[in-house]
Amino acid sequence: MTCKIAGCPANGRDFSGTRTSWGSTVDRGGADVNGLRRSLGPTLERMGKSIGILTAGGDSPGLNAAIRGIGKAAIRSHDMNVLGFRDGFRGLMQNRFVRLDGETLSGILTKGGTILGAGREKPHKMDVGGQVMDMTNVMLENFEALALDALICLGGGGTAKNALRLSQSGMPVLTLPKTIDNDVWGTDMTFGFDTALNIATEAIDRLHSTAHSHHRIIVVEVMGHNAGWLALGAGVAGGADVILIPEIPYSVEAIAKSILERKAAGSTFSIVVVSEGAMECTEHDRMQALKALVKSGAGDADRAAEEYAALADLQPSGTDRLAHSLEELTGLEARVTILGHVQRGGTPSPVDRLLATRLGIAAAHLVAADVSGVMVAIRGDETVPVPLGEVAGKRRAVPVDHPWIDAARSLGVGFGD
Ligand code: F6P
Repeated sequence: MTCKIAGCPANGRDFSGTRTSWGSTVDRGGADVNGLRRSLGPTLERMGKSIGILTAGGDSPGLNAAIRGIGKAAIRSHDMNVLGFRDGFRGLMQNRFVRLDGETLSGILTKGGTILGAGREKPHKMDVGGQVMDMTNVMLENFEALALDALICLGGGGTAKNALRLSQSGMPVLTLPKTIDNDVWGTDMTFGFDTALNIATEAIDRLHSTAHSHHRIIVVEVMGHNAGWLALGAGVAGGADVILIPEIPYSVEAIAKSILERKAAGSTFSIVVVSEGAMECTEHDRMQALKALVKSGAGDADRAAEEYAALADLQPSGTDRLAHSLEELTGLEARVTILGHVQRGGTPSPVDRLLATRLGIAAAHLVAADVSGVMVAIRGDETVPVPLGEVAGKRRAVPVDHPWIDAARSLGVGFGD
């Protein structure tokens, strides 16, 4: 077979006939790889490379589709051994894994969550018996002991950072971009986003009728961390009257004004979609100033860090405070709906299944072509490897001149600015 992944260094390379016996394709610095293979017995029985997969960070619809895509392509096209580590990086640290084969990979395409279990822990900051420790070396030892050729981490921006660290310690790592937040730098889209967008939009549709019946303001909070993609997408698709996103700090007075204008024009209800990371202007400015102070280390950075954390902790109740203020300013009754983790659960949408499957297959081909240290991204209609060094530490925020924002403004949607 020939690699057809656009942008892949192996593009055009023919893999047929390159299946060689174990160890002959990998330089392991003189390690007795065949001995390792014998000692692992039935765990590694195929003749191709061996890969480990783990799902890190919060779970996201499409993870199982990606695991299946990687596994099936790795086995069918490259005769690889495929292991899945349990519960994110913790499974790699504790050597807890399952063998992924035709049977375990079957019937998981439509399942929500992850068959492997997820975890938010970082390799360099693991909780070991109540102590936070750097367990990178233990993970490297386990990786070597299993004679793995690559680790594929399914995760968001944080996972890309962790993967880069592992890769700098000598482990060949690749990542796939998953998160409902859609905020991973370097890819047009992350898998999980489309499903969450559908769920949030359906919820807004349903809230419309009850808001209308009771002449109420419904403030609906959606996830998205510090990016407004989900609130913006669902807000526009669901016909929200006000959309609040982290990228555009809001003023409560401006929101109340647009609700009162609607009332004056005859609409006695309003739907306000608020991203969990959206902030009121003065709070936003205070947070930015504290962040800068913490980063610079100047002045009383410790106190600033404490205050920053306290303000960040206030955020979950920000939506309640907003609804209360709107009631006072408009005289209309307000109710709050927090969609929460319902946005991450259940069957992945066809768009997410397709994206996750394609990215997973591309990752398997890249491992076969000895490519690592990359995130497999979708750009246009192509899957492309992007160096982890370019991805890690960056976040893809909503540009304030994004076409979705322009469209919403053209329809009279308020952003509270
Ligand atoms: O990153 C995905 C996400 O769902 C965010 O939108 C949200 O802020 C966060 O995870 C919630 O994390 P947890 O599931 O750990 O509470």
